[in-house]
Amino acid sequence: MSEEISWSPYDKVLHLAPYDVWRRLRDEAPVYRNDDLDFFALSRHADVEAASREPLLYSSAYGTVLEIMGSEPLGTGHMIFIDPPKHTELRALVSRAFTPRRISALETSIRQLCAEMLDPQIGGDGFDYVQDFAAQLPSKVISELLGVDPADREDIRKLIDQTFHQEEGQGMVNDISFAAQIKIHEYLTNMLDERRKNPRDDMMTSLVQAEIVNENGTRRLTNQECADFTNLLVSAGTETVARLLGWAGSVLAEHPDQRAELAADSSLLGGAIEELLRYESPSPVQARMLTEDVELHGVQMPAKSRVLLITGSAGRDERKYPDADKFDIHRKFDSHVSFGLGTHYCLGASLARLEGRIGLEETLKRFPEWNVDREKSVRSHTSTVRGYEQLHFVLG
Ligand code: HEM
Repeated sequence: MSEEISWSPYDKVLHLAPYDVWRRLRDEAPVYRNDDLDFFALSRHADVEAASREPLLYSSAYGTVLEIMGSEPLGTGHMIFIDPPKHTELRALVSRAFTPRRISALETSIRQLCAEMLDPQIGGDGFDYVQDFAAQLPSKVISELLGVDPADREDIRKLIDQTFHQEEGQGMVNDISFAAQIKIHEYLTNMLDERRKNPRDDMMTSLVQAEIVNENGTRRLTNQECADFTNLLVSAGTETVARLLGWAGSVLAEHPDQRAELAADSSLLGGAIEELLRYESPSPVQARMLTEDVELHGVQMPAKSRVLLITGSAGRDERKYPDADKFDIHRKFDSHVSFGLGTHYCLGASLARLEGRIGLEETLKRFPEWNVDREKSVRSHTSTVRGYEQLHFVLG
């Protein structure tokens, strides 16, 4: 008889290479139960997809990270933790400011930011691709997007970094992270007040001006809602992009032929980013709370169960992707769930794709080849985000 399967998002060893266990979950326990940590987990693509399409049954209101979920809704203003119909209204409002036009207008500055960080490494022996580049790019881009004054950008970048500070045993729930979150919140609130008085052509101004008409008349965002949204952009759009680019650095070093193809033909980069997202999902686990009893694959999940949707496993599901463990930038596929799906589908997906594509293009232009010093490289571990904290490129 085969060994009993055990999986937990807190297991640091499994986190390094989860794919064999996730395959066993998909094959042998598609509704996996972990009694010790009191959760169920869905690992097949079709099940993750179906659950994501039922946001009221699989609620986000209790939190979407296992360690912050309690028996009551969180009651925060972050739309990632809000169910429809309130979520629908908030998302419609912020989408007035977070527009495709505003995102595509960032392309030139993203290229410039890449050049500022990558050019100094030309001619050197190597550098830390994550710390010196991938982890800095997203917070700089968000500052630009929000319209943070250039003089404040370095301070804001450092504060954003501190919000991701981890303490052993406490994870991201610690004093350094809290203090940084409060400072960012104050800064953003002041910025919003300022934009109400003196509008500019930036996203903060569009946010305070955004309005929709509902049955009670015209509805605008409160300052608190604007600040909650901008805070969410910072937390959702920083670490994830850093991990995506880190995975690009690592996976392409292991596939030098495909890397050479990408260096020679930038039109392949868009497909390569999708394949990277499928193959190594930067945010591989999304938690939900069941609001009613559900039976799936013969397993009863009672209402008020915590259910983890393993999007990272869904990306490797052979039922959806033939030869799923093979990395192939030419793979043809219609979709993946690495940006979530349905109601909470990643609002920043187009920005993430843009940063990924340009970040990788600018890297390959300067460094068509690199090796990775695996001994020196460090993986980060949280229960929701997976990737490299440090990735040492060896050049020449
Ligand atoms: C590679 C980079 C990224 C990945 C892998 C990623 C992944 C995700 C996932 C899986 C969700 C759904 C969470 C859930 O269903 O509970 C999500 C939601 C979200 N993401 Fe991203 N994300 C990335 C980049 C970004 C960026 C750059 C931004 C904005 C600057 C952003 C903003 C958001 C927001 C606001 C939501 C919540 C949407 C809602 O609740 O309606 N993300 N993201």
